[in-house]
Amino acid sequence: MRVIIRKTYEEMSKEAAALVKKRLQQKPNLVLGLATGSTPLGLYRELIRLHQEENLSFKNVRTFNLDEYYGLAPTHQQSYRYFMDTNLFNHLDIDKKNTRVPDGMAADVEAFCLAYEEAIRRSGGIDLQVLGIGGDGHIGFNEPGSSLASRTRLVALDEQTINDNARFFARKEDVPRFAITMGVGTVLEVREIILLVNGAKKAEILARAIEGPVTSLISASALQFHQRVSVFLDEPAASALKRVAYYRFSEEAEKKIGREIF
Ligand code: PGA
Repeated sequence: MRVIIRKTYEEMSKEAAALVKKRLQQKPNLVLGLATGSTPLGLYRELIRLHQEENLSFKNVRTFNLDEYYGLAPTHQQSYRYFMDTNLFNHLDIDKKNTRVPDGMAADVEAFCLAYEEAIRRSGGIDLQVLGIGGDGHIGFNEPGSSLASRTRLVALDEQTINDNARFFARKEDVPRFAITMGVGTVLEVREIILLVNGAKKAEILARAIEGPVTSLISASALQFHQRVSVFLDEPAASALKRVAYYRFSEEAEKKIGREIF
């Protein structure tokens, strides 16, 4: 894993955006995997700036989002479709019909999940997946105990996730109890991953995920099985890591040899 640590959330977000930009320049029809939540907002703001001020184009990009609340329509202000439109897609030159978010209103959930996996495959597979980590160690909505081989499916949200996300809803009872999420196995098949983590609150779970044993109780720990993961952190999020000196050394070494070291 590459672990890139920056002083602030803003610097960390810009660094991650620079990686997206680089991949996009190498492949203008990139297939991007996207995430919601507070964490990627800085990255999305910077991508919008790169589009508006530096002409970075998303015209040929296709996207797949990780997850969606089950039972929320795309027009619901807390749906992840609404989040993606308002925080990213509406501000880019992306073709909306090339953006996919799981359908929280799917009547036949199983058929929908199979079709979502099939759509990912037909696109040629996800080139670059953006991830955050939940307070309980989840990626997507793969709550503790999710099989490391899991695929896109309906899941019940963990109590901790419901509490974490209650801040976005008028009342805790309004937080949906279910979601459709790509599985851990689905995520492990992407070609490259960006994991974004900021803030002291996530320091402990992040350290367990990347420096602890792989366990289905922390689905982010499965990323240790992936060959190309860049972890972008601000200093508070990095504060529980044991190997910071090595990560900094490795980043310096990258600069010297002019290539990424995973
Ligand atoms: P957050 O959520 O970015 O809002 O902290 C992260 C997650 O649950 O994956």
